Amino acid sequence: MIYLDNAATTRHKPDCVVEAVTRALCSLGNPGRGAHEGSLDADRVVFDTRLALAELFHAEGPERIAFTANATEALNIAIKGILQPGDHVITTAMEHNSVLRPLYEMEERGAELTILPADRQGRLHLEAFEAAIRPNTRAIVSTHGSNLTGNLVDIGQVGQLARRHGLLLVADASQTAGVFPIDVQQMQIDILCFTGHKSLLGPQGTGGLYVRPGVTVRPLLSGGSGIQTYRRHHPPEMPTALEAGTLNAHGLAGLGAAVDYIRQVGLETIREQEMDRMWEFYRRVRAIPGITVYGDFSQRLRCPIVALNVRDYDSSQVSDALSSHYGIATRPGAHCAPLMHQALGTVEQGAVRFSFSHFNTREEIETAVSALAELAQEE
Ligand code: ALA
Repeated sequence: MIYLDNAATTRHKPDCVVEAVTRALCSLGNPGRGAHEGSLDADRVVFDTRLALAELFHAEGPERIAFTANATEALNIAIKGILQPGDHVITTAMEHNSVLRPLYEMEERGAELTILPADRQGRLHLEAFEAAIRPNTRAIVSTHGSNLTGNLVDIGQVGQLARRHGLLLVADASQTAGVFPIDVQQMQIDILCFTGHKSLLGPQGTGGLYVRPGVTVRPLLSGGSGIQTYRRHHPPEMPTALEAGTLNAHGLAGLGAAVDYIRQVGLETIREQEMDRMWEFYRRVRAIPGITVYGDFSQRLRCPIVALNVRDYDSSQVSDALSSHYGIATRPGAHCAPLMHQALGTVEQGAVRFSFSHFNTREEIETAVSALAELAQEE
């Protein structure tokens, strides 16, 4: 299979990730729940992964990283944990449903919501953030990169603006963590939500959030913490405050190994290889008659994603044909990004999304381009 669905999940994991998960499955106990070897080993694995992520995102310390099952859980914790009825929150049309649906829920509970529109190329206008601020604005929730078009948001600029106005910035790094440098302190990000199974190259069921010191997030869950058992309430200290129940130490072992791999190979090296594959693919497919590409390709740096359609064919049929006739994996349809499809005018047709990993080869790109050229010819 030629796997070009890396924005959904990276399928090719480094060998060290597979080995770390296997080792963990064969040896770890419950992290933080005992003093025997298995429990202590699990604790160490979880701590090492926390530390590796804190360093990757330049957090103030490892305790600022809390683990979740995925970015959706992290975003739910962040959004529901900082907003109150009567608060105003600003978000964008570039968001995934993992941002939009929790925000709609908060709107139903009395928060006010402004969604900044995107243009036909899926671009935002940064001035719109400032213009939308009201006296009761509490937070901005913005993606760092669209899962549909690959367009980036200049999150550092949004962070500057948020800090200047005393707002919290919640950034969704689902598509950028592991590809782009993220420095939460320099970018003035208050809460960073990430997932482990995409460009961080870890297993599914891993993810988390960074919370800046001084920011309090009301937890979604309470329960077993392994510490302060006789208190009525879940411990308020990070990271335990946002981690109730047994952590996925087996998955986190893999995520830790994946972050080590990224640091060894180099974020920049990985990104340049992905840019190379994406730009090669983009340049070739946009020249094929009958292919429409979506998104803003005026900036060299963007998420390694190309969303397109072939003539007026339904995107699911094209994706099925790519899979069954050519062995190429892509994601069609709506990509959980309803407002982005509205902005692009692709609600009916959807789009076929190609998303790249540094493991993809130039030959694979060549095969995908030829397949699209053939499909675009058929009437
Ligand atoms: N959020 C993932 C995607 O964009 C699943 O495909």
